[in-house]
Amino acid sequence: MPSRLALAAPAFPENFLWGASTSALQIEGALREDGRGVSIWDDFGRRSGGIADGSTPAEACDHYHRWPEDIALMREAGFSAYRFSIAWPRVLPDGDGEVNDKGLDFYDRLVDGLLDAGIRPMPCLYHWDLPQALQERGGWMNRDIAGWFSDYAAIVAGRLGDRVTDWFTLNEPSTVAIFGHAYADHAPGLHRGRDGVLAALHHQNLAQGAALRALRAAGSHFRLGTVLTLQPVNPVTDSEADRSAAIRWDALWNRASLDGVMRGRVPDVLAEDMAAWVRPGDLEAIRFPLDRLGLNYYSPLSIQYQPGRLYDAGFGPSGNPRMTAMGWPVDPKGLTSILAELRDLYGNPEVLICENGAAYDDRPDGAGRVDDVERISFLRDHLEVVAAAVGAGCNVKGYLVWSLLDNWEWQCGFSRRFGLVYVDYSTQRRSPKASFDWYRKVIKRGL
Ligand code: NOJ
Repeated sequence: MPSRLALAAPAFPENFLWGASTSALQIEGALREDGRGVSIWDDFGRRSGGIADGSTPAEACDHYHRWPEDIALMREAGFSAYRFSIAWPRVLPDGDGEVNDKGLDFYDRLVDGLLDAGIRPMPCLYHWDLPQALQERGGWMNRDIAGWFSDYAAIVAGRLGDRVTDWFTLNEPSTVAIFGHAYADHAPGLHRGRDGVLAALHHQNLAQGAALRALRAAGSHFRLGTVLTLQPVNPVTDSEADRSAAIRWDALWNRASLDGVMRGRVPDVLAEDMAAWVRPGDLEAIRFPLDRLGLNYYSPLSIQYQPGRLYDAGFGPSGNPRMTAMGWPVDPKGLTSILAELRDLYGNPEVLICENGAAYDDRPDGAGRVDDVERISFLRDHLEVVAAAVGAGCNVKGYLVWSLLDNWEWQCGFSRRFGLVYVDYSTQRRSPKASFDWYRKVIKRGL
């Protein structure tokens, strides 16, 4: 139920946070270095045959070695914040048990480097690289993961909490649940249908609640959040079948996570099926007063009735001719409605936009320059919406682009480029694109 926001001049508050996000597996490489354990994504392509270009994340952007150069780029752009993720298998190679100090050392150096550059480090504890050893014990389908995850959170906070104040727990739990446990496009590549999805959603909610409490115990001054992907879900037609498919998809994709943490509730259409997983006390354990909500926004979704698909709901055409290289429609109004809904129906929580951005087929010209005009207009259009939302009372406190660098885009491998900075994977040379210069100016002077 999108409410409209009044249009305001594109201006951002004084302390608005500006930066970008990345994730460990997508940029670090060095998968076998310094005692890192194996993650479910390391070898997923070889096992599933499902990575578009047959690549692996083994080297990615070699950020594990090139992080000083990457921090220098962030500084040049004028970032005030940076969200990265911590690789669970670097810290606990078996997922629990023995701590790998060398893994923590890496994040220690990174955090110090960011602070030296005047950039606020905002680690996210889970961006999809589950230790393989935990997958072998059931992964997100095993309820015990709540304890494994909160122990891991406490270990990281114990090491970095003297310098890090801003924490995120999960990244996009609905993507993990649906694409990893039913569609099998993502690791761990399971086809477990409704059961897999609901178990993974519920156990992520539980793990998140437990980790947030562990973090709160480690630092009463910490600013705690989690990162959700929220997309307006539109039925393809006005038919009853399409409309109810859209309601089911909205429940799975958006509400199971959002209502879990914000309201301690399971969406009505999932309640009966979810009852198999929910035990007494769980909903109280899942609900948590977040200091900020991390929001990833790329596009709205068009859903239609498709018997045989998960909850008889499938993706349909958006009818929008403007699309990114991912095939996602460009529609900033979707961000307007999400922000208005958070304001009007969820108590106007503090929001940090943790991901927004676009993949395009960037190619350097003869001089090695990428003139990514489409990305600039994508970002500008979305930032105008953010400014208008702030003007209309939405509590948005910052904006992080996905992503700083071109990187390993999961099942698309290196075939999709989201970066403000172009990466030549044969040399690891970084070249700021036109969007990087544009963003630097926006940070400095506004839109
Ligand atoms: C969301 C994910 O968090 C990130 O890892 C991914 O690369 C972007 N979307 C683009 O697909």
